[in-house]
Amino acid sequence: MARPRSVYACTECGGQQPRWLGRCPECGAWNTLVEEAVGGAGGSAGVSGLHVSSAEAGKPLRLGEIQADGAPRMETGIPELDRVLGGGLVPGSVVLLAGEPGVGKSTLALQIAASARSDAPILYVTGEESAEQVRMRADRLPGFPADLLVLPETQVEALAAPWREHDPAVVIVDSIQTLRSERVESAPGSVAQVRESAALLAAAAKRHGAALVLVGHVTKEGAIAGPRVLEHMVDVVLGFEGDRQHPFRLLRASKNRFGSTQEVGVFSMGSAGLEGVENPSELFLAERRGGAPGSCIVPLLEGTRPMLVEIQALVAPAGYGTARRTCLGVDDARLALMLAVLDRRTDVDVLSRDVYVNVAGGVRSGEPGADLGLALALASSRLDKPLPTDVAACGEVGLGGEVRRVGRIDLRVREAVRLGFHRVLLPERVVAEARPPAGAELISVGEVADAVRWLRAQA
Ligand code: TYD
Ligand code: MG
Repeated sequence: MARPRSVYACTECGGQQPRWLGRCPECGAWNTLVEEAVGGAGGSAGVSGLHVSSAEAGKPLRLGEIQADGAPRMETGIPELDRVLGGGLVPGSVVLLAGEPGVGKSTLALQIAASARSDAPILYVTGEESAEQVRMRADRLPGFPADLLVLPETQVEALAAPWREHDPAVVIVDSIQTLRSERVESAPGSVAQVRESAALLAAAAKRHGAALVLVGHVTKEGAIAGPRVLEHMVDVVLGFEGDRQHPFRLLRASKNRFGSTQEVGVFSMGSAGLEGVENPSELFLAERRGGAPGSCIVPLLEGTRPMLVEIQALVAPAGYGTARRTCLGVDDARLALMLAVLDRRTDVDVLSRDVYVNVAGGVRSGEPGADLGLALALASSRLDKPLPTDVAACGEVGLGGEVRRVGRIDLRVREAVRLGFHRVLLPERVVAEARPPAGAELISVGEVADAVRWLRAQA
């Protein structure tokens, strides 16, 4: 049987099919299969693996005899980034920095170049912006990196010579979607191109012992544009998130071969680029006006970091027709659920009303721990009764109206108390077991109805 000379790769998920299909059987997307040649990019698996151990090929080692003194690290000089990376960049490894257009990837990349603790040069390959544009951006940022090598280039093969000549410690490619390799015929940004380019670069990084940072765009759906296949080829995947209308940015690792994926970095985008935020709660609550109905403070957990956010709700009489539901920063489904629970399990009547919910500061709360705070904010607005200014709430709410425990209550309560929220409404079971920090008062709620009763009883 003749071997197929080409395969069809899905531009959404990277899945490969032997023949063209209208719909990708792996991810279900329509009309996303494109033809690509077999060979080229295909052999890229494993290129990014960093430590080729001292083992002879094909000879297994005893686990106890393998030396693992931890990967050497190069600090980026950006503590919030180093925290997420697990200590810094690892030479020979590949980091994918992914995010929506405009979130600040190029800015972060340039700030890495400006502050990385390295004696060897840093090479910044720009496929999107001209060298002048990079210079103009750098002028705005703290710590002008005068020695940074800037190379406007989109041809991967053309990077070999400058790479060899300067032997950089860090190579930043902005963005991987703009690169193309002459070994593949399809257009830049296609799966085949991105995969081939990334594979070639990763192999070069490994060979030269450089840390490679690939900037990658993600689409609105959150897929790293086209090729999710990149995620498998790199050592670390960093997602940069944030609402462009607000200054806050969160950096998370969704994959990290050299560290935990539990850490998040918090940044604030200002006129001089990104600044690390050590105390996110203080920033999120800076503009809070206590004492208004419909507002509740919630200690969320991002990775291992507690952050206080303010959930705001406005319950208003509905006009004609169906009641409006608008939420920012909270999942629609979560809001719908909470409204139904309030309706069925308490005496707060919200179902027929217009409801608006917002998490102040452009934060997104995807956490069930915010349920109780959301319910309280809704009830507070509906009853036109503000929560006391020193109160926070945390707990997941079930369909029966029961309030359930969530992880790391100790961290959350400590953060609340640190910022002056001395009274925290918590699930019953947690309060029974907890040892509250000095000055804290834990208020136990078994059901949402308890919380509403407590709110009504406040002066
Ligand atoms: P950018 O890094 O270009 O985003 P990406 O590479 O992810 O597409 O930055 C996006 C936005 O950040 C841009 O709209 C301008 C803004 N910005 C600042 O607010 N302050 C700054 O110092 C810089 C450099 C950019
Ligand atoms: Mg950019």
